[in-house]
Amino acid sequence: MRKNHLIDLCDLTREQWEEIVDLAVQISQNPSAYAEAGKGKILATLFYEPSTRTKMSFQTAMFRLGGNVIGFDNPQTSSVSKGESLADTLKIVSGYVDVIAMRHSIEGAVLAAAQAADCPVINAGDGGHLHPTQTLTDLVTLRIELGDLNHRVIGICGDLKNGRTVHSLINTLCHYQDIEFVLISTPELLLPARFKEVIHRSGCRYREVLSIEEAIAELDVLYMTRIQKERFTSLELYNQQKNVYVLDSAKLCLAKPELKILHPLPRVDEIEPSVDTDPRALYFKQARYGVFARMALILTLLSSQNKEAVLHGNTAGDTRCPNPNCITNLEEGTPLSVIREGDQSYCEYCDSPLKD
Ligand code: CP
Repeated sequence: MRKNHLIDLCDLTREQWEEIVDLAVQISQNPSAYAEAGKGKILATLFYEPSTRTKMSFQTAMFRLGGNVIGFDNPQTSSVSKGESLADTLKIVSGYVDVIAMRHSIEGAVLAAAQAADCPVINAGDGGHLHPTQTLTDLVTLRIELGDLNHRVIGICGDLKNGRTVHSLINTLCHYQDIEFVLISTPELLLPARFKEVIHRSGCRYREVLSIEEAIAELDVLYMTRIQKERFTSLELYNQQKNVYVLDSAKLCLAKPELKILHPLPRVDEIEPSVDTDPRALYFKQARYGVFARMALILTLLSSQNKEAVLHGNTAGDTRCPNPNCITNLEEGTPLSVIREGDQSYCEYCDSPLKD
């Protein structure tokens, strides 16, 4: 883990994140045993972007551990509105609390924040990049509801281009054996090449299909996602993509009886409400498991003695990240950091491939 932050679940080994999942399952079986485990500790939730589940499940998690919560969910009511930098905000808040959960619309912003902070920082979603605590929630759900994750066929449907939950989930599931990903999207919303490369390097497999119908019969898990309206550059482009994928009871007739249907939520119209009562629909349970996942994560970070460096890459001279929504292009004092993998370089903040 970087220092004792959680920026990307893949900063941990599979054994390390499975310890957090194990702890979450233990907590789910006997939550009252942990009712004072966070007593005297304070969590700050700094949400620069809207949230229901992530913010409130973090807050609930800390209260259920016997701790307290401060924070904002509208930076305009904080001194951010007066021009205070991300680094200064984090320096100040980390002097008040024991752990910070932060969401931001800019990719790499939480990694930049972690460098300035004097306490653990958790990535609660950074732009279209990553959402590691949603993935922890997904892993807890799959552990409890499915069991062994190896040798599974996993369908992921919707906005694979902009969906940060999808990116974190794929990075993580690639550490299991013999996973076949069935990527269901339109040509405009394909999974970015860098995540396909992760699948390829892992030895897992993927194929891309255009419709739910052509894949659903073989799936063990169907992970539905929302088309991410807020990441589109125009309403016209969004309107061309919305409503393309709708899971309904007719399509579910083609699926295995033991299929697990997950969705990070919120949903717009990609799952018909009639599906909610199908025993295969786990998305509301999944949101509840998110509290246990975040309780386990908070406890792990509060007890961590790991002091690894926050950045692992090298400085980049004059090279700039090609992603206009990367923190290195938007926050002064955040120079590009370059990670080299084989013959390809990546921006450490947003994982965008860099040209040599
Ligand atoms: N799944 C998820 O991140 O939901 P929120 O945006 O409501 O936090």
